[in-house]
Amino acid sequence: MSRLDTRAVHAGRDDLAGLGAHVPPLDLSTTYPVPDLAAGGDAYQALATGGRPPAEGGLVYQRLWNPTVARFEQALAELEGCAQAVAFSSGMAALTACLLAAAAEGRRHVVAVRPLYGGSDHLLASGLLGTEVTWATPETVAGAVRPDTGLVLVETPANPTLDLVDLAAVADACGDAPLLVDNTFATPVLQRPAEFGATLVLHSATKSIGGHGDVLAGAVACSTAWAERLRRVRAVTGAILHPLAGYLLHRGLQTLPLRVRAASASAARLADWLAEQPEVSAVHYPGRSGSPLLGRQLLGGGSTLAFEAAGGFEHAAAIAEHCELITHAVSLGGVDTLIQHPASLTHRPVEDAHKPVPALLRLSVGLEDPEDLEADLAKALLR
Ligand SMILES: Cc1ncc(COP(=O)(O)O)c(C=O)c1O
Repeated sequence: MSRLDTRAVHAGRDDLAGLGAHVPPLDLSTTYPVPDLAAGGDAYQALATGGRPPAEGGLVYQRLWNPTVARFEQALAELEGCAQAVAFSSGMAALTACLLAAAAEGRRHVVAVRPLYGGSDHLLASGLLGTEVTWATPETVAGAVRPDTGLVLVETPANPTLDLVDLAAVADACGDAPLLVDNTFATPVLQRPAEFGATLVLHSATKSIGGHGDVLAGAVACSTAWAERLRRVRAVTGAILHPLAGYLLHRGLQTLPLRVRAASASAARLADWLAEQPEVSAVHYPGRSGSPLLGRQLLGGGSTLAFEAAGGFEHAAAIAEHCELITHAVSLGGVDTLIQHPASLTHRPVEDAHKPVPALLRLSVGLEDPEDLEADLAKALLR
């Protein structure tokens, strides 16, 4: 098999030359002609229960299957080293589908390791989907798992503190319970959780995979059996990805390795620079953590870092508000640099005892010249 950068460019495109095309076609059809009723009915049955389209019978309806989205799914699965992937209308829709698929098997208990993205924390803590959560640390996962545990959920690097989790150790602690790893921050360029025992590899594809701030999407890479469960949930709940979004994500994968490595190099440089500034009391960046997981599990520091303003909450708020080149906005993984205050925004719904500290800012580093980013931050830090 070819190397990751080559696969990023070519995956999901094997049949194009045969079609006489150089880039993938974009199929926007919401419905498809049914060639004959018996075959069409069989196709509907297969697709609505999570299967792939049979040779005869057509694709039936966009909520059940879309060829443009399927190309992106195939490409992502290849990069993550999984049999299949299933794309959703957002990262939260992807997580919801995983929880519902586990619950459909009668396993409504979830073990989760904090910190998680605030929306994921909110979804689990609220029990909105009828799930019950036990919060654990990586060391207490084994004791928290029960016979009805449908998922063990971890994020590494975690949002927003960039904490790292040893995936092989947690996978071991899960026993038979499926391990879901949110790989949004690392991307398959820097970390492939399936190689360390993850059952489900989740992405907010809104972030680095899309990479340009113009697509909202989620995806889960997994086994064929899990893909069938997830597609069934997707078909009946309607959390399908729009084909144009699928097209853009598939294109985004082609430059993902280059973008991730370039942004990571700038983030590493900014993390070192921030650590020397008297206005900064702490810097959180995997590349500076000295963790033994670096190089073994995580192949680079990534494009996101966090830092604490020496002057506490007011100082942090002033820094975010006084950046000029850097946009004060949530989200991450795009070509432009963003700064935001997690306790006020992305992690606002998290219970107070587990909220990020008030001095913390999260910085998603983009592809600008890092000297310009440094200059912008240098001015803002003095506020
Ligand atoms: C790590 C992580 N997982 C999941 C999500 C949710 O993804 P989406 O916003 O695409 O629904 C986010 C969003 O910020 C995130 O940062």
